Amino acid sequence: MLTIEKLEMDYGKFQMTAENMDFGQGLHVILGPNGSGKSSLMRGIIGYGGASMTKRAVYYEGERVLKTHRFLSYLPQNNPRFRLSVREYTGLTADAGNRALQDSLLEMFNLKPLSENTVEELSGGEFKRVQCAQIAMEQKAVLLLDEVEQGLDLKYQHRILKWMKGEAAKKTVIANMHDVPLAMTYADTITMMRDGKVLVQGIGPEDVTSAMLSDCYSIPLTVERREGRPWVFHAL
Ligand SMILES: Nc1ncnc2c1ncn2[C@@H]1O[C@H](COP(=O)(O)OP(=O)(O)OP(=O)(O)O)[C@@H](O)[C@H]1O
Ligand SMILES: [Mg+2]
Repeated sequence: MLTIEKLEMDYGKFQMTAENMDFGQGLHVILGPNGSGKSSLMRGIIGYGGASMTKRAVYYEGERVLKTHRFLSYLPQNNPRFRLSVREYTGLTADAGNRALQDSLLEMFNLKPLSENTVEELSGGEFKRVQCAQIAMEQKAVLLLDEVEQGLDLKYQHRILKWMKGEAAKKTVIANMHDVPLAMTYADTITMMRDGKVLVQGIGPEDVTSAMLSDCYSIPLTVERREGRPWVFHAL
């Protein structure tokens, strides 16, 4: 269980506050408009906020989360590329000697044909899949994934969300997302942020209403379910 007892970030013009949030095993999606504080929340959890972190009481299994990532993997919204092969990159932050795991991940993310290419020359979506494989290689108990679905085509969006759901069967996975229907299809819980505040905390996707989404994104939105699948429309 990852617990945010209290987390406050203050950049001067923008403040983010989160408190009394528990993330147990499962896939927990954070939604919210641009600039609502989703990435700040993740940076705060791992302690990468510098002087802007004015309060930080975050625990994993009762133990204070320090900057050591003994149990936590973080995939930032944007990652720099290096002149490393896909195989080198995916082993960079993990036990690179675990060749069997690496091979199975390269296979799972369909990266085998690209394994000797450098990550500099990959397409945006290919690089995202490499980053997922790198995170999976680390085999940590908590995954923080910031907009991992961005840049992926429809097939890979679903493949990556299925991978996240599989990881969430035994881990705590927290994911910032913008694709609301995709999030509602796979998430175990939905949290909504706006203006640095948590508006809705940890509800089931079936409990998300049009009013909540309209309030969160400040536009009229309608959510409907068809054949058990969520659809979100901009009410014109
Ligand atoms: N290091 C920083 N210094 C000053 N302001 C910052 C800093 N980091 C973020 N901000 C500001 O804090 C606000 C929240 O940013 P954040 O990146 O957390 O939003 P977000 O919800 O992740 O947005 P997006 O969906 O666009 O990724 C923004 O207004 C941003 O400009
Ligand atoms: Mg962000």
